[in-house]
Amino acid sequence: RPRHPRARTMLPLLLLLLATAHGLDKLPYVPTLASPTLGGQTTTSTFVLEQPRCVFTIIPRDAVIWLVVAVPSGRWGEGGKHPGQGSLLIPVPLPSAVPSFNNSLGPGTPERSFQGFPTTAPAYMTLNTTVLNYPCPKTAGDINVLRVGSETACTGDETRPTCNGPLPGPGPYRVKFLALEGSEPVAETAWSSPIALQTARPPSSTSTAGPQRSAGMVALTAILPILLAALLAALVAMLVFAGGDACGGSSAFTKPEAVAVQRYNTHHVYDQPAARL
Ligand SMILES: *[C@@H]1O[C@H](CO)[C@@H](O)[C@H](O)[C@H]1NC(C)=O
Ligand SMILES: *[C@@H]1O[C@H](CO)[C@@H](O)[C@H](O)[C@H]1NC(C)=O
Repeated sequence: RPRHPRARTMLPLLLLLLATAHGLDKLPYVPTLASPTLGGQTTTSTFVLEQPRCVFTIIPRDAVIWLVVAVPSGRWGEGGKHPGQGSLLIPVPLPSAVPSFNNSLGPGTPERSFQGFPTTAPAYMTLNTTVLNYPCPKTAGDINVLRVGSETACTGDETRPTCNGPLPGPGPYRVKFLALEGSEPVAETAWSSPIALQTARPPSSTSTAGPQRSAGMVALTAILPILLAALLAALVAMLVFAGGDACGGSSAFTKPEAVAVQRYNTHHVYDQPAARL
């Protein structure tokens, strides 16, 4: 009985605490690159992430999960001065930029647009989806990965600032997943470790032989049937010739002969690139 009035005052306090606690839920999950066995983990303009499955377990169903891609390069400041070099600022890599990241700048705003990244937008937000598309538990055979940078159609399209366009440079980049309910951030993961993309191959490296040879193979497979057809035509022509000779020559064979000779010429034409292989 004496406790009753006290409990009455405690209840609103508790509710208030709950209400203020309902803010940004910081999840311990760290976005990671997909397993290397999948191949093509990083290219010069894309990288592949594991989907955040079984991560956003307590967010509202209608919350939208975004991928935030941020870049450190080109951002200067806050790092202090170079010792003995006057006003030159030390470039600050992303780790120190990340804590000051403003989650309230929503997707599609100029500061978060793909087209402005990284010159005017220090980060962009893309690959929005609901938690329904990251089902838990994972099932074998599911596509469990996300390719960042795979959408080329919207790269320069200012009306699509949430474009999942090709990454503008070798990076490194850091990413996190951020869940928004309306425009309210409700949960976020930790930032990934820096993700560096592949740099363009030096022209003299042996790897350039790969694409060249495969192009050659393609040409060869395209030419082979034509060569065979030409050979067959030549064979037919020879038979016709032989037949014509046996019959003592006849004007009836003039036409097939002409056709055969024409085909024989195509054989020579297509033989040239094949010989160069
Ligand atoms: C974050 O962005 C919001 C929306 O533009 C702005 O009102 C707020 O002042 C920003 N916060 C910081 C710390 O810059
Ligand atoms: C993602 O965002 C874009 C632009 O805000 C919107 O048009 C699209 O419907 C969203 N997709 C999903 C799956 O939420």
